[in-house]
Amino acid sequence: MKKRILTGDTPSGKLHIGHYVGTLENRVQLQHEYETFILLANVHAYAQSFKTAEKINDLVYQVFLDNLAVGIDPEISTIYLESGIPETYELYSFFLTMVTLARAQRNPAIKDEIQYKKLDPSMGFLAYPILQAADILQFQTSLVPVGEDQLPMIEQTREIARDFNAAYGETFTVPEAKVGRVARLVGTDGKMKMSKSGNNSILLSEDEKTLKQKVMGMYTDPKRIHPTDPGKVEGNPVFAYHDAFNPNKAEVEDLKKRYLAGKVSDVEVKESLFLTLNEFLAPIREKRKYYEDRPKLAKEILVNGTQKARKVVQETLEKFREKVGINKLIK
Ligand code: TRP
Repeated sequence: MKKRILTGDTPSGKLHIGHYVGTLENRVQLQHEYETFILLANVHAYAQSFKTAEKINDLVYQVFLDNLAVGIDPEISTIYLESGIPETYELYSFFLTMVTLARAQRNPAIKDEIQYKKLDPSMGFLAYPILQAADILQFQTSLVPVGEDQLPMIEQTREIARDFNAAYGETFTVPEAKVGRVARLVGTDGKMKMSKSGNNSILLSEDEKTLKQKVMGMYTDPKRIHPTDPGKVEGNPVFAYHDAFNPNKAEVEDLKKRYLAGKVSDVEVKESLFLTLNEFLAPIREKRKYYEDRPKLAKEILVNGTQKARKVVQETLEKFREKVGINKLIK
């Protein structure tokens, strides 16, 4: 039997090229090797902050299209809606009893967000990683391809699996995380991380004109005024993107050399980056449009995927109930 992958995204809008190198690319490549489940984490979206279902559903749909667009093949992988598997809540509520409040508050991702956003966190917010553990463990997942920011979540998931197995006997597979080839892609403004809210992202669904505007407006080396000034390559986001996306390594090396020597303009480096990214995005846009134009097919994929995923989860849940002995009195 193939080992399993489970991963997904909390919908915060359309996905960007940072998501691609951080996790999407791994999903697409590994779907041939692993039985792959992609979750649209709509329940997690409620735990983050109050939003209407209408808003969340719209965001979820964009993330769904992005996954298909980059090459998740619905013939071999399963995409499902988190709320379509009510068994997840059963596992989640049991896991809640296994995690102390202190441990929940210590999760660095949770802790940072509370501090940064000055939150008065709900129970659901603190338990966000515990819901994530239920998502993962219910599939007997071996591998979780994720962006670097998710590592504390996977660590907590592993802990829950180990604690459960120690208490009730071998039940859950303890999963590993896998981060993509660029753990953290810098933003177009040179800030640490590309993010939708930071207004420094390039979307996978970007049209050619917007892409060009964004690339030509990118932050480079602020000290460089003339093309004849020697420039900095390190920490320069234009070169970070060339490294991440330009398949022509010789061209990248040549541009870097000339940039360091003051022998190429910012405009030329950016124009070549635009061409690179445009070529990279062209087939993604096309596939997105294919599914956008076929809403019935897209819905079928999601409905069938959710049904199929639920069946797999139900098997794990039977095992879980047996191990705990929770329903013995009514069997
Ligand atoms: N927390 C993840 C994010 O913010 C989404 C997510 C929910 C997830 N459940 C998961 C990721 C399970 C991997 C595995 O994008």
